[in-house]
Amino acid sequence: MRALLSAAAAAVVFVTGAFNAAAQTYPNRPVTIIVPFAAGGPSDALARIMGERMKATLGQPFVVENVTCAAGSIGVGRAVRSAPDGYTISYGHLGTHVANGAIYSLPYDMLTDLAPVVLLPSNPMVVVSKPTLPAKTLKEVLAWLKANQATATAGTAGAGSGSHIAGVYLESLTGLRLQYVPYRGTAPALNDLVGGQIDIIVDQASNSMQQIRSGRIRAYAITDSKRLAAAPEIPTAEEAGLPGFHMTLWNGLWVPKGTPKDVVARLNAAAIEAMADPAVAKRLNDLGLDMPARDQQTPQALGVWHKAEVDKWWPIIKKAGIKPE
Ligand code: MLT
Repeated sequence: MRALLSAAAAAVVFVTGAFNAAAQTYPNRPVTIIVPFAAGGPSDALARIMGERMKATLGQPFVVENVTCAAGSIGVGRAVRSAPDGYTISYGHLGTHVANGAIYSLPYDMLTDLAPVVLLPSNPMVVVSKPTLPAKTLKEVLAWLKANQATATAGTAGAGSGSHIAGVYLESLTGLRLQYVPYRGTAPALNDLVGGQIDIIVDQASNSMQQIRSGRIRAYAITDSKRLAAAPEIPTAEEAGLPGFHMTLWNGLWVPKGTPKDVVARLNAAAIEAMADPAVAKRLNDLGLDMPARDQQTPQALGVWHKAEVDKWWPIIKKAGIKPE
């Protein structure tokens, strides 16, 4: 019996030692960031900017893998099922890590099956339309949508995605009924908007910014209380005559539950260093992204914020009766 106990104790010491050694040398191979939307979109862009700078700190490449569909819930599921060793990161936002839980019957619990790493910059939304839509102001585009309700289309990244939640919010404030066209992400939706195949998107500003600047799409209002430094010509929804249309899409990084705490701490430190890097901050700012406050950049702060957002949005989304696609 004594021999058995000391063998068991030795085994525990060995395993813990192995774990600590692994955490000490983490990362010693490439790390995958699972982005649950199509390449080229706002989530993909922010994940790649962060990954690139985190590589500089941690010395291993951060590889983005786009795992799409069902408004991101498939990609999040893939991350949840991954080994809790720090080599798979779940990228997400209000849609994928909050809204989807109130819409889809998910094979995972987004609050307890994932461990928070860091809150990332947030994105105000912008109402944009195809270049040929006969409207110059938000009031005119809302009037056009009302007059063409039977046929007018709004592109989204699926039921529960940021662009969809923003559309549902616009409906609730205006009484409009929009026909939603789901895509694997807002990158392909934006291509169709430029091409005139769909009429509007309530998109993340960072995704539409380039096309707005090039004049290939029209922008009508920002869903924030202040104008975007990157596009001061676009009025806020308040200024454009739709008071209360406030929505910023926050983003974050998570890892599978059970990932060693010191691995989470290393990832968090690398992400904070990335956001504090002036070159990274300028790129994000030029895209219209807002940096989270420094005291909001801890894993614990994301955990508290995530729970609060679930408590806030689930009743609203369930009341809206949004059905999975
Ligand atoms: C994307 O990257 O395509 C977006 O985050 C999708 C969305 O939620 O609207």
